[in-house]
Amino acid sequence: MRLDKFLAHANYGTRKEVGEIIKSGRVTVNDKVIKTRKEKVKDDDYVEVDGYKVVLEGFMYFMLNKPKDVISATESYEHDTVIDLIDHPQYRELFPVGRLDIDTTGLLIITNDGKLSYQLLNPKKDIFKKYYCKLKNDVTKSDVAFLETGIPLKDFTTKPAKVEVINDDEVYLSISEGKFHQVKRMFQYLNNEVLELKRVEFGNLQLDDALELGEYRRLTEEEINNLKNLI
Ligand code: URA
Repeated sequence: MRLDKFLAHANYGTRKEVGEIIKSGRVTVNDKVIKTRKEKVKDDDYVEVDGYKVVLEGFMYFMLNKPKDVISATESYEHDTVIDLIDHPQYRELFPVGRLDIDTTGLLIITNDGKLSYQLLNPKKDIFKKYYCKLKNDVTKSDVAFLETGIPLKDFTTKPAKVEVINDDEVYLSISEGKFHQVKRMFQYLNNEVLELKRVEFGNLQLDDALELGEYRRLTEEEINNLKNLI
């Protein structure tokens, strides 16, 4: 990552401001004064400003509007990961809170706060995740009743879900669990097929409509506190 970007991320000012700091010879990388803002720095480089080590951020929280074709993992040889979409010098610390399938889009929390992630995913907390589902066939009244009661899948019976019908073949489904392919399997049981799946809420956190697919933003203090209040 470029030195000016690195320092901007560490809150030394805007790119323009840190450019001035660099030009004035106040920055060293591995004990060598560097005056070019485009200098590339690596994670393990030792960067100082005015003789003080640059300390990067503590906990970080982002919401990503996950696009298709990237996987919810930190590393992959085959595909791009959701972490590859985050431009931050400490990206190696980050991980997604839970997983969305490769063809699922929408709200994914990305953080380096392991404790919060663990708690948000703890099944005992019963935190609802809301999905927009576009289906191949119409959803019947009896399907809704089934979903709201619990679907007997092979390995477990789902807890009661919440259903908001949008159209004959479009619903919002909220579930408090997060088992592998769960929403798809629930509709499969009802002889239906999910054609499009997008997560729009995680507990009290809503996907920001302003984020295009692949875009992300920091969570606000309020959003972080609201999530912490869930656990
Ligand atoms: N349920 C699924 O089937 N897929 C997801 O990505 C999330 C929930």
